[in-house]
Amino acid sequence: GEGYDVVVVANRLPVDRDGDHPDGRPRWKRSPGGLVTALEPVMQSQDGAWVGWSGGASDDPGAEEVTEPFDEGGMRLVPVGLSGEEVAGFYEGFSNGTLWPLYHDVIVAPEYHRTWWEHYVTVNQRFAAAAADVAAEGAVVWVQDYQLQLVPAMLRARRPDLSVGFFNHIPFPPYEIFAQLPWRRQVLEGLLGADLLGFQRPGDAQNFLRAVRRSLGLVPRQQAVEVTDADGSRRRVTASAFPISIDTAAMDALARTDAVAERARQIRADLGNPETVLLGVDRLDYTKGIGHRLKAFAELLDDGLLEADGTVLVQVATPSRERVEQYRLLREDVELQVGRVNGAHGTLGHSVVQYLHHSYGREEMAALFLVADVMLVTSLRDGMNLVAKEYVAARHDERGALVLSEFTGAADELGQAVHVNPHDIDGLKAAVVQAVVMAPREQRRRMRAMRRRVGEHDVQRWARDFLAALRPDVARDVAEA
Ligand code: G6P
Repeated sequence: GEGYDVVVVANRLPVDRDGDHPDGRPRWKRSPGGLVTALEPVMQSQDGAWVGWSGGASDDPGAEEVTEPFDEGGMRLVPVGLSGEEVAGFYEGFSNGTLWPLYHDVIVAPEYHRTWWEHYVTVNQRFAAAAADVAAEGAVVWVQDYQLQLVPAMLRARRPDLSVGFFNHIPFPPYEIFAQLPWRRQVLEGLLGADLLGFQRPGDAQNFLRAVRRSLGLVPRQQAVEVTDADGSRRRVTASAFPISIDTAAMDALARTDAVAERARQIRADLGNPETVLLGVDRLDYTKGIGHRLKAFAELLDDGLLEADGTVLVQVATPSRERVEQYRLLREDVELQVGRVNGAHGTLGHSVVQYLHHSYGREEMAALFLVADVMLVTSLRDGMNLVAKEYVAARHDERGALVLSEFTGAADELGQAVHVNPHDIDGLKAAVVQAVVMAPREQRRRMRAMRRRVGEHDVQRWARDFLAALRPDVARDVAEA
């Protein structure tokens, strides 16, 4: 028939612009995210389409946006165009100035602007229209993340024949926090357009169901609520946890290559063959607790519990959302702190913190994971944190120690990490010391258990489990293809 049987709708397309072909057509490369890896087999076996934004602005003279659907990597890609004003209102504004801080426990203050909300509605409507246009009769449409919470209901209004799933990649906050949102009813009603709502942790699903009860007066039973559509028909909406993961086998295989092993040796040598390498890898985001980590590290050096001479902290801070005010302020803070630590403890030819405001490819990341004696994940709030899982997947040598904030979804699964409350600086310092001095046998015991978990629960399984809960027939077809 007409249209695609599986449609993914995400704020971003799964490709990045990579210059142009000689004939002027744009060239694309697959973006590094795990979501693409997870969904690729599903999409390829099922005649899939992916609806998303290419990252540009339609009225940006330098960017010449692609607006026509095109085929790439065995998928149909359907670009949704945004104007500069929409990028500011929908993406930088409502998504990342309102929802992001609100859903991450108001680490910074969310801003509530009616114009941002209006752009959010308009743009969500555009994504819903694009998905409705390409979906075949009875197709599965899987909507991703907080930028698109209104899409499920908007889609259902246009296309009641579709099965609609939604997955929230970030936390869903307690009602006491969610209740601040002036448009809380609209957001909940938008989400309830789905048949299945997936969250990272059971607590997120519970928070959502509590919000539905408190705001809309619907009483959940067994992780589901019954809703009545505009035409009077009744429907059950289920909310439950599907913790996302990584392509474990791919990371494990990459980390075992000679090229990566060689690169790891080279990095260690470039760092001056220090006794201890600590590593942080984050988008430069205030949810990640980078300041807390630097503070603990600086105090350990001050106290003489870490030796400046034999220690390096490598901090990769990937540039992110740089036009949003809070991200600019964060960058200033972090860079000031790095400068102070290096000023106090560095020597000629040796900086204790190697701060890298770049993004790196997968090979370089795998090599860095192999170099890291201690991996630091100190998020103040994090839906999952895939870096923790990538570190574990890379350590085929069963060495290294993971310090992991208890405020990440990953902490639920990685019980053998050294868990910390990053707000407790003394506790964080003690955890870092524990990780630094951990005996190889103990590292191995813990790493083995964590590798078993991440090996069994990979992103392919996540996608399969979600689809099986939404549409068992489609999940079976994928499994057989
Ligand atoms: C988080 C969100 C994603 C988002 C990513 C990168 O992981 O859950 O939806 O795509 O950050 O952020 P960006 O704003 O660059 O898309």
